[in-house]
Formats: sequence, C-alpha cells, structure tokens
Amino acid sequence: MTPENVLVETSRLIDGKQTAEDIKVEIAAEVAQRRAAGHKVPHLAAILVGHDGGSETYVRNKVLACERVGFASTLLRYEDDITEAELLAKVAELNEDPEIDGFIVQLPLPRHIDPDKVIEAIRPEKDVDGFHPMNIGRMVAGLPALLPATPSGIVELLARQGIKTSGKHCVVIGRSNIVGTPVSILLAKNLDTANCTVTLCHSRTQNLADICRTADIVVAAIGRPEFVTADMIKPGAVVIDVGTTRVADASKKSGFTLKGDVNFSEVAPLASRITPVPGGVGPMTIAMLLLNTLRAAKGEIHPK
Ligand code: GUN
Repeated sequence: MTPENVLVETSRLIDGKQTAEDIKVEIAAEVAQRRAAGHKVPHLAAILVGHDGGSETYVRNKVLACERVGFASTLLRYEDDITEAELLAKVAELNEDPEIDGFIVQLPLPRHIDPDKVIEAIRPEKDVDGFHPMNIGRMVAGLPALLPATPSGIVELLARQGIKTSGKHCVVIGRSNIVGTPVSILLAKNLDTANCTVTLCHSRTQNLADICRTADIVVAAIGRPEFVTADMIKPGAVVIDVGTTRVADASKKSGFTLKGDVNFSEVAPLASRITPVPGGVGPMTIAMLLLNTLRAAKGEIHPK
C-alpha cells in the first residue's frame, strides 16, 4: 500500500513538500534581494556519471529547484566509463571556477571510482553536499559548516513542523556517511531544534525491534523497503522515513513504485506524525542543498 491509499489524517502526515516549498520561497526572496543589490546569483553545478534512474531523477529535480529560486545551474554529464583521473580533473576545474559557488557529485559512482577520493578533492567551501571530511569534522566540533543536506533537512523539518525533540529518545536506523551517522550527531547537538538522546542502530545491532520500541522519534535510513514494521513502533512515536527504493511495479507507467524504509500501512496508524514517501524527506534534501549553495555564495561558512 502507498501513502495515498492508507487512511491517515493529514494532520498526522509530515508534509515535507510544503515545508521545502516554504524554504524555497524564502531563498528566492533573498536571491532577488541580493540580485537587486548587484550581487551575482548563486550558481550550483552538478556532476552526474552514468544513467542510474534514481540519480537522473534526483539531479533533474535539483536543477529544476535551482531555476525555481533564481539560481544559475550547470549539469555536467559523463558516461560511466569516465576514469577516476578524468573526474578528479573536472572537480579541480570546478574548484577553480569563480562562477561556480558550489557543486555536487551525485552518488553512487561507478565501482572503478573511489567516492571518498572524489569527495576529498572538492574544496570544502564549495562542498554544498556537506560530505567533505572538513565539513563533517566542523559539524561534529560544532563549528560553522556546510551541513549534509538530508540530515539538516530532517532537523529543519522537525523544527518547522513544531515537533519537540529536546530530551526525546531518537533511534536512527542506518549508519551511512550521508544520512545515519550525521543525523545522529545533529540530533544530539545542544540546540533547541535537537537535544535528543540518540541511539544509532545498524546491521549488527541486537534486539533492534526492542530498541526501536523505546523511541519517541524513529529515523529510518537503511535503504531496505518497508523494513520498519508495526511491532517496532511505540504508539505515538514520530516516524521519519528516509528510504527511496525503486521497486518493480508493472501497474505503474514508470514500471516502479518508490518505497520507503517504513511499512507505511502498518506504521502510520500507530505514529503521532509520519513522513510519506514520496513527499517527506526528499524535497527537504533539495531545499537544504539550495540553502547550502546560497550560504556558499555568500561566503558565510568559509569566507571568500
Ligand atoms: N545520492 C543519494 N543522496 C545523495 C545526496 O544527497 N548527494 C549526492 N551527491 N548524492 C546522493
């Protein structure tokens, strides 16, 4: 079952699409103001290697979002036989290009390219994904940093939806560098929008269901469709679903359905608030990427 055909009062759904839209309106207003004051418009570049369906969609949505807020954007596409050296040379070029304020290299990359090497080659002040070890380290240390977009999008979504986090037990499922690990750090920060007690669960965690049942907030970021089931959820918990797996579905024109990491039909009736897939965390990731690009253009984090 999909979010559309499970009966959940809309007041319990966490509308990430609308919240992201609100943020985009704010960004667009600031861009217009800066333009009127004679500043150049922020410029985001995206590198896309190969033809992965999911990555194509994400990057297309990122470029469209740039247009929506008045940014310039550049999409650089390469076939998946590009060598690591060629990709690193492109990164070096973007690092030096004064027109480009920030750029991303869409992941995953083909197996012959080391993503860590590519991420480390990006200048931290242009790393609007917030993946560079310098930005991660600064985030952990509580210093100004470009924050990873999905984790900061989750924190922003909870805050803007008026969901109290302080003192709550948050269980994060999944320890990826992109989502699980950084969101566990952000949610534990001494900030009004965080202050959670965080448990980070992963593939080796024992008694996962028991631990999840103690959570006031569950963040599911494992990339396994419908992994989180009703028996893992305390009634009244807030459920944040980061999953976006394409599952074959012959009844759909596209041939697939996007599935979250949460079994929505089982879990939604128990949760006090829950994000749908799509329309939950995904749009927030894009909104926060735009916000990082604006901050990079302003030289807010790493002065130019
Ligand atoms: N692949 C999945 N999520 C992301 C993201 O936020 N940024 C990049 N660059 N690649 C991704």
